[in-house]
Amino acid sequence: MSTQPCSSTAQHARAVLVTGIGELTTNDPELGTRTGAAVVLEGDRVAWVGDAAAAPAADARFDTGGRAVLPGWVDSHTHLLFAGDRAAEFAARMAGEPYAAGGIAVTVEATRAASDEQLATTLARHVAEARRQGTTTVETKTGYGLTVADERRAAALAAADPGVDEVTFLGAHLVPPGADPDDYLALVTGPMLDAVAPHVGWVDVFCERGAFDAEASAAVLRAGAARGLGLRVHGNQLGEGPGVQLAVRHGAASVDHCTYLSAADVDALAAADTVATLLPACDLSTRQPLPPARTLLDAGATVALASNCNPGSSYTTSMAFCVATAVLQMRMTVAEAVWAATAGGAVALRRHTGPGAVGVLRPGARADLHVLDAPTAAHLAYRPGVPLTHAVFRAGTRVM
Ligand code: NIG
Repeated sequence: MSTQPCSSTAQHARAVLVTGIGELTTNDPELGTRTGAAVVLEGDRVAWVGDAAAAPAADARFDTGGRAVLPGWVDSHTHLLFAGDRAAEFAARMAGEPYAAGGIAVTVEATRAASDEQLATTLARHVAEARRQGTTTVETKTGYGLTVADERRAAALAAADPGVDEVTFLGAHLVPPGADPDDYLALVTGPMLDAVAPHVGWVDVFCERGAFDAEASAAVLRAGAARGLGLRVHGNQLGEGPGVQLAVRHGAASVDHCTYLSAADVDALAAADTVATLLPACDLSTRQPLPPARTLLDAGATVALASNCNPGSSYTTSMAFCVATAVLQMRMTVAEAVWAATAGGAVALRRHTGPGAVGVLRPGARADLHVLDAPTAAHLAYRPGVPLTHAVFRAGTRVM
């Protein structure tokens, strides 16, 4: 099925009518989830959404043949810029070894030893892999360099990849082996932050036992905020801890993992604008419990789903896998899980409103469409593990 011109003169279509849609998920409260709908893309934006019978004329037509259409996945938490492989560590874990933050150092060593070209190629390969599965917005982090030069290199390479939408500085991923924690914190909040700042929009900190404590994490967030960066926190991954409360207190856009939450953490998230970003593939790959999605949703918290693709704790780019897991094992409904993996990720990245918004299909939004080889989005969980991506449009261009 290809995009067909409506007339022989329209060689370079400006407006594309997407029609024959089985079920359209818009994530727009007024447009809703609908049948009998059509969408018009114009340039890189959605120009029109409504009943197919009322669709305006367009230069070209893309007939989806009764398939479901939804916004492209918004993967708001990944670590795609790295070298090396930790399959042996994974296999040992599956044989009973616990997951520990220290495994990050293995990837740091391999990443420092890799050339710029190797890192850029690996990043592009991961982004392309995600794209083929319907991901149209990608956030990725530094955090496997942990020297000023290596973090700056990672930030610059990530910012230079046209498939990466948001870059986050995660110098506070781990105190490198042999470094003094206070000296390293001073580096992260000073010269390292200065070096990466031109390339990144966000700062993040791994607030966890074995990584950074509450006080050090707060210092990282304060330093990032002082340079105008948005804030994110890795928190409550390996046990209850201060991450969630810290994120909420500092007005972070998201706190990611949220595997172990106290009642007070849930209450704090329900009352805040901080998104609880859940990373179920990570919890499965580290043999942790799955996060309490139902409790968060019932309390009124905003929930996002992301892949957390990284070589240690979650080596997958599959957002569909995360959605299926959320539905089958975390008691989210299909609609909640699809929203969390699209609009929820957009809220976590603060890209959910205004012109060029992602995770939503309404006039003015970025034209990011995921066409499933299925009549409804429910098939994402009803047919777990089956590759269901039929076509992907990113910013109006068909990329798969
Ligand atoms: O999000 N939690 C910290 N960082 C990554 C793990 C990275 C690694 O093990 O290499 C995560 O799970």
